[in-house]
Amino acid sequence: MKSGLCLALDPTLRSNDAEQFEQSLRRQVAGQDEAIEKVAEIYQMFLAGLNPVGRPVGNLLFLGPTGSGKTRVVEAVAEALFGDSHACVKIDCAEFQHSHEIAKLIGSPPGYLGHRETHPLLTQEALNQWHTETCKVSILLFDEIEKASDSLWQLLLGILDKGTLTLGDNRRVDLSQCLIFMTSNLGANEMNGLVDGGMGFNRKVATIDTRVDEKMGHTAMEAARRKFSPEFMNRIDKIVVFRSLRHEHLEKILDMELGQVQQRILKSAAGVPFVFQCSQRIKEHLLAEGTDAKYGARHLKRAIERNLVFPLANLVATGQARPGDLIKVDFDDAGKMTFVREAENALPVTPYLPEKASEAAMAQSAAMRSARVGTGRVPATGDRRS
Ligand SMILES: Nc1ncnc2c1ncn2[C@@H]1O[C@H](COP(=O)(O)OP(=O)(O)OP(=O)(O)O)[C@@H](O)[C@H]1O
Ligand SMILES: [Mg+2]
Repeated sequence: MKSGLCLALDPTLRSNDAEQFEQSLRRQVAGQDEAIEKVAEIYQMFLAGLNPVGRPVGNLLFLGPTGSGKTRVVEAVAEALFGDSHACVKIDCAEFQHSHEIAKLIGSPPGYLGHRETHPLLTQEALNQWHTETCKVSILLFDEIEKASDSLWQLLLGILDKGTLTLGDNRRVDLSQCLIFMTSNLGANEMNGLVDGGMGFNRKVATIDTRVDEKMGHTAMEAARRKFSPEFMNRIDKIVVFRSLRHEHLEKILDMELGQVQQRILKSAAGVPFVFQCSQRIKEHLLAEGTDAKYGARHLKRAIERNLVFPLANLVATGQARPGDLIKVDFDDAGKMTFVREAENALPVTPYLPEKASEAAMAQSAAMRSARVGTGRVPATGDRRS
């Protein structure tokens, strides 16, 4: 019998928790929307309790060029879930290139030399150490997996498939509450060749179009298929190819990094909360120094420290910067950096505070959501679940 109640449901709606999670990722990561969406989808599935039983919550493989944000996304997930970007167990596969080094991860069996001395990295306690009352998921990162030894591969295959691991002393580790991330820059050289005839990390926005992006995705996937066995690839839920960052993304990353410096100043133990503003010319200079073809945005932080944080620290330490000041940073006509107090009692003039970024992130997230409604989802490359 047909009931009178027929209500159309909206499967594109996300819960508040998942929405906030996604917004937090957008505040921290620029230009890698596909990665953010995939992680947010998996998190929503976890919140709904629908992730597969007896497997990790999600197995994600991130491919793409150096300095494009692969590791940054994982840190952003840790920050979003636990308020600490280091709240994850990170396994640097380059450190486990010899089979015997696996003991550092899982410990040696009883009776073996060093059995008592080795403290395995991958214990249940290590994985659960950041759990809170409300969030019982762990983050496990295998960085540069192409460098893993055969024995690490065997271990990884077991973890990805069954979500369990047996330590050297026979204790079992349950990884079914784990988000597992793997990164690799396999194929990055070939990808670089596709952009600007060898200029891998793109500064000239106009030169990358969607076809190049598609080709780059294809190239990375091919490189992964050549290197990794089908049994490994079949255990991955999502493969995301990170794109070369455009100038607009670099500008956004610079603003994020400057925002972090502003936060540091406002929270600093020295108790001199002041506000700084950089001119466009200073920003261009930081971008030119901190980003390059080979290492992406990897050196941006260092350029900011050297050009901005050190001089600002001197101003604080010598009492020239005072609480509430607004300090403008620019170049003079001779090309020398200038630091000028433009106003006093300027707080709460806070140009780089996260609230601003948060508004932008919310707007972006809402726009993407409405774009998804009615258009259906585009299946991701290598996407097993969707
Ligand atoms: N998409 C991005 N959004 C925000 N910050 C980024 C992004 N890409 C790079 N960065 C900045 O550059 C630094 C290096 O990036 P990251 O470590 O994520 O590179 P990666 O892709 O993991 O490179 P590799 O393959 O060499 O490990 C980050 O700490 C961050 O400051
Ligand atoms: Mg990395």
